[in-house]
Amino acid sequence: MKTGQNTAIVGLQWGDEGKGKIVDLLTAKHDVIVRYNGGANAGHTIVVGDEKYALHLIPSGILYKDKQCIVGNGVVVDPVQLIKEIDALRDRGIEVGDNLRVSNRAHVVMPYHKVHDAALEQKLSQIAGKGDQSIGTTKRGIGPAYADKVHRATAVRMSDLLDPKTLLDKLKVTCSIRCAELTALGVDAPPLDAHALADEYAAYGRRLAPHIIDTVYELHDCVNAGKKVLFEGANACLLDIDHGTFPYVTSSNCSALGIHAGTGLPGKYVNEVVGIMKTYSTRVGGGPFPSEELGEIGEQIRERGNEYGTTTGRPRRCGWLDLVAVKYSAMICGATSVASMLLDVLSGFDELKICTAYELEDGSISTRFIPDARLLAKAKPIFETFQGWPEEIDHITSPDDLPENAKAYLDFISKYLDLPISIVSVGPKRSQTVM
Ligand code: GDP
Ligand code: IMO
Ligand code: MG
Repeated sequence: MKTGQNTAIVGLQWGDEGKGKIVDLLTAKHDVIVRYNGGANAGHTIVVGDEKYALHLIPSGILYKDKQCIVGNGVVVDPVQLIKEIDALRDRGIEVGDNLRVSNRAHVVMPYHKVHDAALEQKLSQIAGKGDQSIGTTKRGIGPAYADKVHRATAVRMSDLLDPKTLLDKLKVTCSIRCAELTALGVDAPPLDAHALADEYAAYGRRLAPHIIDTVYELHDCVNAGKKVLFEGANACLLDIDHGTFPYVTSSNCSALGIHAGTGLPGKYVNEVVGIMKTYSTRVGGGPFPSEELGEIGEQIRERGNEYGTTTGRPRRCGWLDLVAVKYSAMICGATSVASMLLDVLSGFDELKICTAYELEDGSISTRFIPDARLLAKAKPIFETFQGWPEEIDHITSPDDLPENAKAYLDFISKYLDLPISIVSVGPKRSQTVM
């Protein structure tokens, strides 16, 4: 793989592709690691030796001592979660100080956002005559926090936490509106106390103050000084608010297209885009998933891949690789190469399948993805079948040592996508990687 000056890591499916592992690996070749979207809905796992780290808001580069980690303006930050994460890392001997910067323009996830998220999901799960209409969110308050960003007048940004008077003034307005909304949603909770909330969040502001800066100028200073930037996508392309399987998506631009708005660095600063792809498919929450396997195969993938959510612990829905979907994501993200993750999970299957087209409701065949949940739900997968390989491959470090059938499987993927596979991952550890 040619690693340009700056590299983006982006999920090409519905999340949990193993972005954390690859960000951690590629951090070695970069100076600055920046998150540009999402919030604590993300759960990025890094395994170093026997130690496992699950990061939600802090960039996955934090385990390297001399790297700068930045939470960009496009992220929605839950200060409670951020402080928890900082403390947990410090408890494990990881330095978190000047190496962590958080944008003063990032929006704050407030407690009422989380209550709203859960209440709306609850309401949507029981719509009379329509059944369950919920999204299956992580209940981390992501949607309501981004909604406030768009509403503007009711939003709280990280800089507001540093200015107690402004914070109180804002919360006096917002709390009264939120109380009315939550009551309408059937939330039976005590009224929001603007003063108490302002005191609590100003205290978080004091705690986080050393980290809060104008990250846009900081990032431009970094690139002008010749530092190499690694962009860490959270969530994934098919969950992108504009380009994903709407409405079963998250609330940010989590494809590579979100990088520029979410960091303040324009297009010319992204030189390489590594699309992260599981060699099968998973999805958490609701929404269409044409290649889903609801029976034994899905169960086998879930158990072998330990497919349970890093953030919510929910069992992930599992199925075969959908290359129609991945090719679409690679197009949207401008992927220059692909990292093929969790290949080891596929050992032991007699046959493997890859979805290469859809049969649509009218009987026509489409090799184009359909980023519309209603239509995609009706698409039937058309599969190509491949011979599996019986042996475990989690110890392999050279591409030549992979079983012939695994090579053929990867070759097919690369040709279909018309992209090189720059990394093959055969286990969660750094060492379990074929470059
Ligand atoms: P992310 O959200 O994209 O960072 O992915 P998650 O961390 O949510 O989920 C990926 C899971 O797969 C984590 O538990 C990783 O430790 C694990 N993982 C990553 N790469 C591999 C791999 O090649 N093989 C196996 N078996 N597990 C992997
Ligand atoms: P990482 O970065 C998997 C999904 C949720 C839900 C939908 C909306 O770990 O890959 P939200 O709470 O964002 O409003 O939920 O999006 N979702 C993810 N699924 N991995 C993620 O992040 C996700 N982030 C959001 O399950 O279906
Ligand atoms: Mg995850």
